[in-house]
Amino acid sequence: MKYRHLGKSGVKLSTVGIGTNRFGAEHVPQAKVDEMIAAALELGINHLDTANVYQDGRSETMLGKALKGKWDKFFLATKFRHTVGPGPNDGGASRFHILNAVEGSFQRLQNDHIDLYYVHSWDDNTPIEETLDTLNDLVHNGKVRYIAASNFAAWQLARANLLAEMHKWESFVAIQEHYHLLERKAEQEIVPLCQAINVAIIPYFPLAGGFLTGKYQPDQPIPAGSRGASSPYVQKYMTPENFTVLAKLTAWAKDHGHAVNELAIAWLLAQPQVASVISGATRVEHIQANASAGEWELSKAEEQEVRDLLGD
Ligand SMILES: NC(=O)c1ccc[n+]([C@@H]2O[C@H](COP(=O)([O-])OP(=O)(O)OC[C@H]3O[C@@H](n4cnc5c(N)ncnc54)[C@H](OP(=O)(O)O)[C@@H]3O)[C@@H](O)[C@H]2O)c1
Repeated sequence: MKYRHLGKSGVKLSTVGIGTNRFGAEHVPQAKVDEMIAAALELGINHLDTANVYQDGRSETMLGKALKGKWDKFFLATKFRHTVGPGPNDGGASRFHILNAVEGSFQRLQNDHIDLYYVHSWDDNTPIEETLDTLNDLVHNGKVRYIAASNFAAWQLARANLLAEMHKWESFVAIQEHYHLLERKAEQEIVPLCQAINVAIIPYFPLAGGFLTGKYQPDQPIPAGSRGASSPYVQKYMTPENFTVLAKLTAWAKDHGHAVNELAIAWLLAQPQVASVISGATRVEHIQANASAGEWELSKAEEQEVRDLLGD
């Protein structure tokens, strides 16, 4: 496994991490989570990504059980901001909600610190100064180690980090954005901004929810129990145009001795500022198949060849 710095920070993350938004779903019980964490440890994966809202908190709860006694081996990211209850302050990025949310995550994780704490998305109703000041306090009292943003527009991240610099507060070391071979809006403003201010990019949905693994084929039934059977997000990629691109990507990956899921991850790792790719997994085999992509470094010419296949 290779490791990269998280933006300007000193901490190093495995280039392949694990997205855990399915941990706690019906087909991903505690025993499977335990197995996946054991496999991650064996493969040198240290970066795990969750959120307080994933599976109504069960992702955090199960990670808490699986990581008992292993916290020093893993770098765990979680998130706050989305609504977790019916009350007027059961969501958002206010001081009030953040301080409640962080305690909720500690309870579920059975831990007293969070390695990376994300604002899950921008909150129009809270001044960003209030959010940053609160996060700064959490870092300085040891409850949180690094802070990050998710789903921010470039201007929002630029404004937040400039305010943090002016006030001498902790700033966002990373941003999590929707980014994969078939979804490249982040390249317009987020990527250049992150290059300019050295913020790490953590792409989410790196496999387009599974479409970029090649498990869905136009002439075959959708595999039973897979996400594509029910997820409109995955189904929206199942167009004739996307299947044509997928076939080209699959053939190109095969010519280079790899599978297309590895290409999806290695291509993201070839993009500027990308520190780690958090492919989601529901079984150990996914983690093993995805981890190998971390060893594959595309040359500049190869990266361009892939862009050519995408029609750039
Ligand atoms: N910040 C945000 O707003 C945000 C939004 C979305 C996601 N995220 C984060 O990003 C992470 C990754 O996103 P994601 O898990 O939704 O999507 P993803 O990584 O694009 O796709 C993951 C899915 O692909 C399938 N899969 C993975 N590896 C496979 C392999 N080698 N072979 C065959 N199938 C494979 C599995 O689906 P099956 O279920 O079919 O087994 C898995 O659940 C999440 O877990 C979460 O931590 C963040």
